Amino acid sequence: MSEGFLLPGAESRLLATKDDVAQAAAELILAASRQAIDERGRFRLVLAGGTTPEAAYRRLAREAADWGRWELFFGDERCRPVDHPERNSRAASAALLAHVPIPSRQVHPIPAERGAEAGAAAYAETVAPALPFDLVLLGIGEDGHTASLFPGQVFDETLPVMPVHDAPKPPPDRVSLTPSALVQCRQMLILVTGAGKRAAVDAWRAGEPLPVAQVAAKGPALVLLDRDAVGG
Ligand code: 6PG
Repeated sequence: MSEGFLLPGAESRLLATKDDVAQAAAELILAASRQAIDERGRFRLVLAGGTTPEAAYRRLAREAADWGRWELFFGDERCRPVDHPERNSRAASAALLAHVPIPSRQVHPIPAERGAEAGAAAYAETVAPALPFDLVLLGIGEDGHTASLFPGQVFDETLPVMPVHDAPKPPPDRVSLTPSALVQCRQMLILVTGAGKRAAVDAWRAGEPLPVAQVAAKGPALVLLDRDAVGG
């Protein structure tokens, strides 16, 4: 049973456990895919990095969907070689992409192995014609970052994709969609689980201008949280 939970600028649902969050996320993504395919013949989904969404990816991988009409993008990527264990694309492949028949030409990893500037410039060419996305999936860091948009950074809102250096979460060099690209979507789903995110949730509730709060406030955000992330 979910219940309303107050986060400024976003609709949110508080669920009991991280498994409930994963299940709800998988169901919402599948529903969005059916609607997008019915209306436009394809489903453009932006995947989140990090570990939180992996449980939802694994649940999706067990479902029947019109996978041939799915088109996948990434919200951010670490500047590591393609097969590096820290790559978000590798985590998504292990949990989802390796298990469902989405045509490889419809999966668009960020070429962050080229370096932050070259990767961002190349991915901007990929993202521009794909906007607006149907659904953007995001996580939240313990400092309130989302994608690779970190507190204290200046976000170049004139571009859809930006290079990131000196990220406080290793590795320091990354490529990230900017808020202006992330919010160009029909649905936005932000997953928040675990006690490690309580400080960020409290800061968000207190109105701090966290990157995740800025993105959520501009997008059609629905935040799914588990009880561990909100304490009490
Ligand atoms: C990354 C992610 C990042 C992630 C948060 C939460 O590349 O690190 O894109 O934004 O979503 O840091 O990470 P966890 O889900 O592992 O807590």
